[in-house]
Amino acid sequence: MKFSTETLNEIKDKISVSQVVEKTVQLKKRGKEFVGLSPFTKERTPSFTVNDEKQFYHCFSTNKHGDIFTFLVEVGGLSFPEAVEKLANEAGVQLRTFSPAEEEKINKSKKIYEVLEMSKSFFSSQIFDDNNSLALKYIRNRGLDNEIINSYEIGYAPQGNKLEKFLLSKGVSHEIMTLAGMTIKDENKKDNFYDRFRNRIIFPIRDIRNRVVGFGGRVINSNDQPKYLNSPETPVFHKGSLLYNFSKIRPNLKNNDNLIVVEGYMDVVSLASKGFQNAVAPLGTAITETQLNILWKEADSPIICFDGDKAGKQASFRATEIALKLLKPNKTLRFINLPDNLDPDDYIKNYGLDSFNKFVNNASPLTSIIWDLCIQESNIDTPEGKAGFESLLRTKLNLISDKSIKKHYGLLFKDMIDQFFYIKKTERKISKFDNSEKYSRKYKNSFKIKNSILGSGGQLPSDLEALVISGILIFPELIKKHYEILESFNIENLRLGDIRDNVLAFVKKDYSELDIDLLKEFVQKKYQTFFEKDLRFANIFWKKKEGNNFDQISEIWLEILSDDQHIKSLNNDIEISKDEIKNEEDEKRFIDLINSKDQAIKLITEKYGEKKIN
Ligand code: UTP
Ligand code: MN
Repeated sequence: MKFSTETLNEIKDKISVSQVVEKTVQLKKRGKEFVGLSPFTKERTPSFTVNDEKQFYHCFSTNKHGDIFTFLVEVGGLSFPEAVEKLANEAGVQLRTFSPAEEEKINKSKKIYEVLEMSKSFFSSQIFDDNNSLALKYIRNRGLDNEIINSYEIGYAPQGNKLEKFLLSKGVSHEIMTLAGMTIKDENKKDNFYDRFRNRIIFPIRDIRNRVVGFGGRVINSNDQPKYLNSPETPVFHKGSLLYNFSKIRPNLKNNDNLIVVEGYMDVVSLASKGFQNAVAPLGTAITETQLNILWKEADSPIICFDGDKAGKQASFRATEIALKLLKPNKTLRFINLPDNLDPDDYIKNYGLDSFNKFVNNASPLTSIIWDLCIQESNIDTPEGKAGFESLLRTKLNLISDKSIKKHYGLLFKDMIDQFFYIKKTERKISKFDNSEKYSRKYKNSFKIKNSILGSGGQLPSDLEALVISGILIFPELIKKHYEILESFNIENLRLGDIRDNVLAFVKKDYSELDIDLLKEFVQKKYQTFFEKDLRFANIFWKKKEGNNFDQISEIWLEILSDDQHIKSLNNDIEISKDEIKNEEDEKRFIDLINSKDQAIKLITEKYGEKKIN
């Protein structure tokens, strides 16, 4: 019976050495250790020490040394399996033993790891071999120096069956080298094997525990196919749960470091050679759930930076779908779209690290990517298309299994929809005035204008105007008190302006002695339907105030007037600044104004209610 190291370690982590020892030996604490009289010999001065932190005991008299298990064997008289069983019981650890078949498998895996390590060293030695100068030349042409070659253990698999010969000379059987994926059995010739990787640049792939588990090999002759060849699935190589370069960077990763996922080995290595270390790559397959969970263990928000071609876009899309499904609190993805279809390797070579880092630091959140995907698939210029767009967004939302995240996505998208359709309007106006492609294109990415909450448009000022006019009709004393203000009040709504003018004219006629009842009669005759129908919302507002004394009414009326003026002056500023957008600075000012207006409208809506008239 064989116990796995994991199991034994698990038990050791749960039961301290002193706990086991002190049942037989009296221990005294001394610094970090315990001391006592040796159980292995007769002594008067204690020479037996126990170190719980290091999980061992040591006897200076007899030089005996061991852990909780050996103590029970040597002192307690148990066999090793008995000791393990006893302590596993105490620790509440489920004992996992291996059947002979499992043991055989473990042994094979062990041999496979050894073969892979040997192969890696062989490939490494070949890259600097004089016979293979073409390979080294290729690597140099791709901008990689010796430091990177060594650090990434980049190698070369030569022509012919050199690896097979090498491994045979080291006593490795054909069975094991083939199991390791390094050789392929020739079906036509009995007992004939050939190298899987021939005339290729080799990228060793390590698992999370930093063991070499397979290789990726790139052709150096552009006519050879396929461009990249990977190890096949083997007992130790499972593409879907590996990430190239992950084990190398993991020890130094801090949670808020930018961890980026690129498509290819060359991208990873090239980024590293230019100073961007924290890149990993899947092995030529779309990102799997396992890989995403591995990434999330080390980073809250890994960044996907795939190629801009069709395959890369498809892979990004798959990543969004998997991410939505697996999202959990604080875990998300971000995305980078490099310009001109460049892959990270090409980009950093052309534009350098600083420029690449700008993209990294401005990576788009998953929410924006989902939004964009849905926009691209919809025709939002018609009401039907808008509805289609919303329903598409909903299908995305429904992929999210975390309830809380789903709720927040829903709220965010609702806001974005309000804002987007408003900005779309603005955008049309801008391109009419400015006709600058640059800006209209910019506003298509409406999510960039993050803070515009309501974007409710220009309806509200006339709501306020309605409140002002309805106010004077229900409380005509206001006219007398605020005659000048009312006269200079700038009303946009033609109908409301007409009422104000008529009322003022009527009052003027009889200014000395304003007959309120006469005024009411005049208004009723002339504006009855409008008053009852279109001003209903405003009338209800004022009717509710009928209990207030006139001073309070007057104050409310003036406040409405000033709110209205505030919105109008913001509108005015927005119109002006919209025509003046020439650079980022102007654009920012413009957006700030829109935000202020949205804020103001929000407050006003809270104050006076929602209903709009026109
Ligand atoms: P790319 O074709 O994008 O390669 O494949 P690349 O990274 O730009 O490489 P260079 O710059 O031409 O050298 C990206 C990844 O897809 C897998 C490999 O894992 C590769 O790193 N792939 C690609 C294959 O598995 N087989 C192929 O034939 C091609
Ligand atoms: Mn490339």
